[in-house]
Order: sequence, then C-alpha cells, then structure tokens
Amino acid sequence: MPDFWNCVEFSHKLFREHIGKGAVVVDATAGNGLDSLFLAELVGDKGRVYSFDIQKKAVQNTEKRLSEKKFLDRVKIIEDSHARLEKYICEKEIDGMIFNLGYLPGGNREIVTESRTTLTALEKGLELLKRGGIIVLVIYTGHSGGREELDAILEFTSALKADEYNVLRYHFINQENSPELIAVIKR
Ligand SMILES: C[S@@+](CC[C@H](N)C(=O)[O-])C[C@H]1O[C@@H](n2cnc3c(N)ncnc32)[C@H](O)[C@@H]1O
Repeated sequence: MPDFWNCVEFSHKLFREHIGKGAVVVDATAGNGLDSLFLAELVGDKGRVYSFDIQKKAVQNTEKRLSEKKFLDRVKIIEDSHARLEKYICEKEIDGMIFNLGYLPGGNREIVTESRTTLTALEKGLELLKRGGIIVLVIYTGHSGGREELDAILEFTSALKADEYNVLRYHFINQENSPELIAVIKR
C-alpha cells in the first residue's frame, strides 16, 4: 500500500515541482551532501547550487559525493554559516533554498543548527527569493534545542504576510519525534 512521503521525500517532491533546469538554489545545511546532490541533478549543468556548512567534515563529505558524480562545476561548497549567505551568492535572486536542520548524521551530535542563525539565514533567503520561488525547512525536535528552533521558525513563518507568502506545515501527528516540514512559497 502506498505510504505518505516522509519529510525529506516531500521536500524533494516540492522542489521537483517548483525548480527547473538552470535554477539558482541554496542548500543551507550541506551535511553529507544528499540534498546538494539532489539539487545539482535538478538544476542541471546550467544551474547553480550554493551549499553551506560550518563543519569541515560535512564540507568534505559533500565534496566527495558531488565529485563522484562530476557535479563540482555547478555546486559551490562553502565552509561558513548560512547566516552569511549574502557574502557568497553572486546572483540577485534565488529560486529556492532548503534547510535540513539538526546535527550531522554520523557526526558530532553536539554541533547543531541554532534558532538565531537559522532565522537570519531564512530572512536573508526570503529577501533573495524570486516570486514563485520556494524555501523548505525540515526540522527535527528530538535533540536539545530542536523544539526551541521549531517554535522560533513557526513564530516567524506564521507571521509572514498571507498576500505575499503561502506557508505550509507538514507533520505526522501520531509519531514520536517525527520531523516537521515548513514550506514557504513567495506569491
Ligand atoms: C541534518 S544535517 C544536514 C543533512 C544534509 N542536508 C544532507 O543531505 O546530508 C545539518 C547540518 O547543518 C550544519 N550546520 C549547523 N549550523 C550551521 C550553520 N550555521 N550554517 C550552515 N550549516 C550549519 C551541521 O554542521 C550539519 O552538518
């Protein structure tokens, strides 16, 4: 029997529907490079992906994954916080941005995304976002600080003006520690 999409699957489905070849997109949390790889395939050889992570290990893992597929020409991997994204993005507008929050799978669980920098990056991403563009956040709440980060994102995105943005919340309500997905489309 077909199941519902999990949050990562749903985030990719939303991107497939909104992002085409030649698009400029941001992976705010590169981690092990799975989202960056997905985005690199989606935007094609004329597109551009900016992938941020503060951890060297994540940058190395992402670089390895992308070089195996020969995608390093279309992906710029940046070892810095997504809160400083404007320093690196050359284009005036972006088509999309993805956040997969929390800690690096297989890495140090003490190094996690934080509400303050996540919100700064989200605000800067919204400023650059094209009309019709999409930002998706996948948020985990099982680790320390995760619930606070979700609450901060919910407070911020709930207050976005309805005539400018459509905001969706996607969540399995009967599963413990199930992540949350928030998607914002600029109208
Ligand atoms: C859940 S992982 C990302 C998984 C990744 N999207 C993938 O496909 O493998 C979260 C990542 O966010 C990174 N991170 C934490 N704070 C950050 C920040 N301020 N800017 C950029 N990355 C950050 C962590 O180092 C970690 O690698």
